[in-house]
Amino acid sequence: MSWRPTKQIGVGDVQISPLARKYVNLVLDSKRITYGKFIARFEREIARLHQVKYAIFCNSGTSALQVSLHALKKLHGWQDGDEVIVPALTFVATVNIVLQNHLKPIFVDVEPDYFMLDPQRIAAKITRKTRALIPVHIGGQPADMAPIMKLAKKHDLKIIEDACETMFAKYRGAPVGSFGDYACFSTYAAHTLVTGVGGFICTNSSTLAVKAKSLVNHGRDGIYLAIDDDRVASQQQLFQIVDRRFKFTDIGYSYRATEFEGALGLAQIRNWQKIVTARQQNAAYLTAGLRDLSQYLELPKVRPGADHIFMFYPLVVKNREVRRQQLTFFLEKNLIETRYLLPLLSQPIYRELFGDIEGKYPVAQNIGTHGFYIGCHPGLSKRELDYVVFKFHEYFRQQKLE
Ligand SMILES: Cc1ncc(COP(=O)(O)O)c(C=O)c1O
Repeated sequence: MSWRPTKQIGVGDVQISPLARKYVNLVLDSKRITYGKFIARFEREIARLHQVKYAIFCNSGTSALQVSLHALKKLHGWQDGDEVIVPALTFVATVNIVLQNHLKPIFVDVEPDYFMLDPQRIAAKITRKTRALIPVHIGGQPADMAPIMKLAKKHDLKIIEDACETMFAKYRGAPVGSFGDYACFSTYAAHTLVTGVGGFICTNSSTLAVKAKSLVNHGRDGIYLAIDDDRVASQQQLFQIVDRRFKFTDIGYSYRATEFEGALGLAQIRNWQKIVTARQQNAAYLTAGLRDLSQYLELPKVRPGADHIFMFYPLVVKNREVRRQQLTFFLEKNLIETRYLLPLLSQPIYRELFGDIEGKYPVAQNIGTHGFYIGCHPGLSKRELDYVVFKFHEYFRQQKLE
């Protein structure tokens, strides 16, 4: 193949549509750049599509997760050092927020096929101090929620779904985000919807929604969380609001997003089905093109009974003659961007905190050591996908493996 891309084939992409430009300009013209109608509409759409009552937009998926755990800890009176079960393979934010809340992460190994919290291994890790589980929906597909929900119910544990990498995907008919006490999404660069920075806290509980929204807003009294709250209030309510609106009931955070992110998100979410279909088609195209390399590379599998919306296209090197670092270097040299597949316990800071414990979680260790991903976003053309497939083959030919 003689064609070469002129720009990098990235793991993510952002397309600014005429509608997005129009919405951003409307925000500028309105001079209303903090919480306003664009965020409110974006929140309503996310809640509707994920079948939850409340969706609260904030400045990142990490903030959303941190606030959710903080709220549960506070409302249920958990103590510092209580335990939260997390997968041994995920983006660092999932576990950072447990530490930031002064709770103890308890790692559980992951499933070899889907890279997510292995329900078979959870029960052995539950103790008197376990309070919550954080299943992570990795890379566009749902965790195995049925057995996870069953365990949570049996042991009276709370669930926060880390859905930062997975929007719109269904598991046995119900969307991600609709299972947990809380569920969090991210709209950071390279995610399914891209607003620059951004995140959602979703819940069906009004108590949890008010608490989370308060924490995002400095821990402000739940009676007054948006500037419009006093406009819609009756005289009686206004009397209360005026008295309470500068009261703070928690040590909260300043995690608000702006109308600009709301405008970008609202413009994109109208096309969510197109975005998902394009991702699935691109992934299927890559799988068809790479299938003959499956003696070297483990190609992605889709969990039966679940959707996969392919936030990225994951691969795990399975032939030990192939070196991940060499292969990804070759791809990057050829303008194909790669990322390692979420190694956690080998991160320098995790080694420093927990020691050399990776070997206790062999499945996560294998994926963290040999896995990586490439992009399959809607911005990719057929020519770019053909080029990616061609370059993989070229690598294995050069290595005299093919
Ligand atoms: C699994 C997971 N959790 C949390 C986050 C954090 O989201 P954000 O970057 O919006 O803070 C990410 C981000 O990429 C993620 O992949």
